[in-house]
Amino acid sequence: MAAVPRTVGEGVVADIDWARLRTAAIDAMHRAYAPYSRFKVGAAALVSDGRVVTGCNVENASYGLTLCAECGLVSDLHRSGGGQLVAFVCVNGDEETIMPCGRCRQLLSEHALPGMRLQATSGVRTIEELLPDAFGPRDLDEVGR
Ligand code: THU
Repeated sequence: MAAVPRTVGEGVVADIDWARLRTAAIDAMHRAYAPYSRFKVGAAALVSDGRVVTGCNVENASYGLTLCAECGLVSDLHRSGGGQLVAFVCVNGDEETIMPCGRCRQLLSEHALPGMRLQATSGVRTIEELLPDAFGPRDLDEVGR
């Protein structure tokens, strides 16, 4: 049974088990399908109910169709019951932390609890630090449709 993460203040989570998340990301990375770039990526995130969701990159002979590891992770989030992401890490084939690409920051932002922590190459950052002034679902309500 997964321990529900303790939230402090505005959705900020205390006591994140980064080692557990890294292990899950490394495990996912080993399942990556990256025959074209040979750059394997694994991602793992903690969900607000204590679940850990993961994803790996899946490339395609039509290169532009590549699915980043974060795409698989968001799919895993919804497949396994939904919820909001509270902590995230992704790694390369050398098991080193890498930054989520710009598109994937947008993808993560839609499913993040405000204040979601990411393990960045410069230390732990929030999603708002990595994607300031983000466009999101609320922007769609601003216009009459
Ligand atoms: N990649 C990811 O999976 N996530 C990122 O955030 C950055 C890039 C993948 C896509 C491609 O398969 C490989 O890394 C090289 O760009």
